[in-house]
Amino acid sequence: MDFITRVAAPQSAAVDCVAVGIYADGSLTPAAKKIDQASKGAVAAAVKSGDATGKRGQAVLLRALPGVKAARVLLVGLGKEEDVTDKAYAEAVRTSVKHAGAGTKQLALAAGDWKVKERDAAWQARTLAVAARETVFRVDELKSKKDNAAPKIEQVAWLAEARDAAAERGLREGTAVANGMDLTKRLGNLPPNICTPRYLADQAKKMAREFDLDVDVLDRKDIEKLGMGAFLSVTRGSEEPPRLIVLKYQGAGKAAPVVLVGKGITFDSGGISIKPGANMDEMKYDMCGAGSVLGTMRAIAELKPKTNVIGVVAACENMPSGTASRPGDIVTSMSSQTIEILNTDAEGRLILCDALTYVERFKPAAVIDIATLTGACVVALGDVNSGLFASDDALADALLAASKTALDPAWRMPVQDAYQEQIDTRFADMANIGAPGKAGAIAAACFLARFTKAYKWAHLDIAGTAWKGGAAKGATGRPVPLLVQYLLSR
Ligand code: BES
Ligand code: MN
Ligand code: ZN
Repeated sequence: MDFITRVAAPQSAAVDCVAVGIYADGSLTPAAKKIDQASKGAVAAAVKSGDATGKRGQAVLLRALPGVKAARVLLVGLGKEEDVTDKAYAEAVRTSVKHAGAGTKQLALAAGDWKVKERDAAWQARTLAVAARETVFRVDELKSKKDNAAPKIEQVAWLAEARDAAAERGLREGTAVANGMDLTKRLGNLPPNICTPRYLADQAKKMAREFDLDVDVLDRKDIEKLGMGAFLSVTRGSEEPPRLIVLKYQGAGKAAPVVLVGKGITFDSGGISIKPGANMDEMKYDMCGAGSVLGTMRAIAELKPKTNVIGVVAACENMPSGTASRPGDIVTSMSSQTIEILNTDAEGRLILCDALTYVERFKPAAVIDIATLTGACVVALGDVNSGLFASDDALADALLAASKTALDPAWRMPVQDAYQEQIDTRFADMANIGAPGKAGAIAAACFLARFTKAYKWAHLDIAGTAWKGGAAKGATGRPVPLLVQYLLSR
């Protein structure tokens, strides 16, 4: 699905379908009015008959209107005019794509008319591309028979009567975000026997070749040399070798980079503290932090902004075996701090802490780690907000602003010192878990905070937002929109 801008009056656009908005009180957007005039009242008649209500989510397809070049006109309900929220707008785009008619290959949306409070054409066009692409993502890569219910829309146009550079930029950004999200989703959905640490490394190398990025893949020996005792303790139980992946995008010479660090547990069985069997397959999604780092790097590599970004992925499996870590083991992290592993299922923080020490060498402007870190975060925030933890208020505010703009919500949670004593232990510098049932997401963030003193740091716990269960099971591609928005806004 491609995106272009088309300069034409709605009644003369040479496409298969033109989508125009109508409001819940039956009033028409300017493009709908033009279609109405050209067709001598066909739109008003559809409203008058009661077919087109303008209600949010409604779509009425009209065919072969006189005076209109496109074979189809889709009347899209926008709800109340004063109430076209960010979400309502994105919904209207998705509704348009879904109801454009099975024969439609080229769809044009007069979406510039769908005025959203405080949003400009660039935002509308960017959101249009992301929302439209969400409706066509497929998960049949490993099915021998493909789902052929797939919509056949090849081209979606931003239809306006004058050229609009902001809309063009928005479409370009939205396409890059959608491409990044698709990569993140695909990696998340791939099974753990295919999407291994080596597979993730191969994907990073492939991307580096395609977009001319620097890539460095460290193997077990390199990780040993670095003294990453915490990372190594997690991979010990697995036959799959670990990888530490470093991808660099340089768009601003020697400027300090933003570093993204992703949790890449390609399967989390829990290790010796093994998880219950029900839904354990879903722990293939435990590499979604890594997936979102790769997806974000892809979007950035495509957009080429004047900024520096480094993506780091710590990837391994968490498995039980005779060589696996035991509860009670004490390991030494790269930072020299010692950690008592009281639960081998709290493995994410163990791989992240060493990656977070490793990235000090880049003298980062900021470091953001992204991880499906805790079930406790899902309890606290569900699948709506990602948990945002930060040592720096300005960084937190910038990420929250980006999350609002990108329709990828996050909610700030505390990382106060008062929570630190939870992970104190008699036998080592810290334990890898806090008190059971108490502020588990914060305890995990407090653990990471002990390794991030050298720079401005934020942590996104995406355990609830990176994927969804149930009938529409799958990776969501979040928080790629948030991260790309943040990086572009700098
Ligand atoms: N990968 C899990 C967190 C998780 C849980 C992600 C549910 C997505 C959905 C993480 O490694 C984990 O197992 N965390 C434990 C920590 C506990 C042992 C302190 C948890 O949340 O139960
Ligand atoms: Mn775990
Ligand atoms: Zn995990």
